[in-house]
Amino acid sequence: MSLKSQINIDKLPQHIAVIMDGNGRWAKRHNKARVFGHQNGVQAVREISEGAAELGVKYLTLYAFSKENWNRPAFEVNTLMKLFVKTVDKEMATLNKNNIRLNALGDLETLPKETYKALMKGMKSTESNDGMTLSLALNYSSRWEIIDAVKRIAGEVKEGQVDLNGINENLFSNYLTTSDMPDPELLIRTSGENRISNFLLWQISYSELYFSDVLWPDFSKEELYKALLSYQNRERRFGLTGEQLINS
Ligand code: FPP
Repeated sequence: MSLKSQINIDKLPQHIAVIMDGNGRWAKRHNKARVFGHQNGVQAVREISEGAAELGVKYLTLYAFSKENWNRPAFEVNTLMKLFVKTVDKEMATLNKNNIRLNALGDLETLPKETYKALMKGMKSTESNDGMTLSLALNYSSRWEIIDAVKRIAGEVKEGQVDLNGINENLFSNYLTTSDMPDPELLIRTSGENRISNFLLWQISYSELYFSDVLWPDFSKEELYKALLSYQNRERRFGLTGEQLINS
């Protein structure tokens, strides 16, 4: 029985978030420069996007570039920025053919102009697609996002547009970059690292975490299916007891 056929389509997560890690180590194993790993990581982005969309996942969010990643060697950063532009341009037709809407999360306006322009163009060209939303987290970090939300809420309290006592979890979520999507039920990180690295800290409060040893460029649809099967075999309790869940 194939892994895919074991997946219960009625119990799919609506939103999967992925920390794509291990490109550099993958390149090293192939005796190549780090950027070779990123170039090959694009194929895995394609595979996983296609795999998730085929199953009917509504939201897929990929951590593509963190605020901390600016500290990498300039050549690597520049190559990544160019790779984002090239990939978005190149994949536009495929995204449209598969009814996938491109979205971007992060401090987008401070990205290099070409990267920003390519993202905006990709988002505009796919905006009416209503199959899966593919979000790229770019120049993103969760602490930046939370502080940005706090500043905007504080400003609106000061202007009298938000009532201090009306601040609750729902309101706060509306100020995050993910305001128009459900929280991820499943977070996957590849490459054997068991960390969150400043990704969606608020949104993953109740996410199931899945750590794979596979390096990102080797992460295939089969690996995605393994993650989904692991997710479907877990009991999500949200603070309740197992007995309470059975009786609900
Ligand atoms: C982490 O691996 C990966 C990144 C920081 C970049 C992710 C980019 C891609 C997968 C390429 C293209 C993506 C899109 C969306 C077009 P690492 O470099 O930290 O690996 P290491 O831990 O082995 O050094």
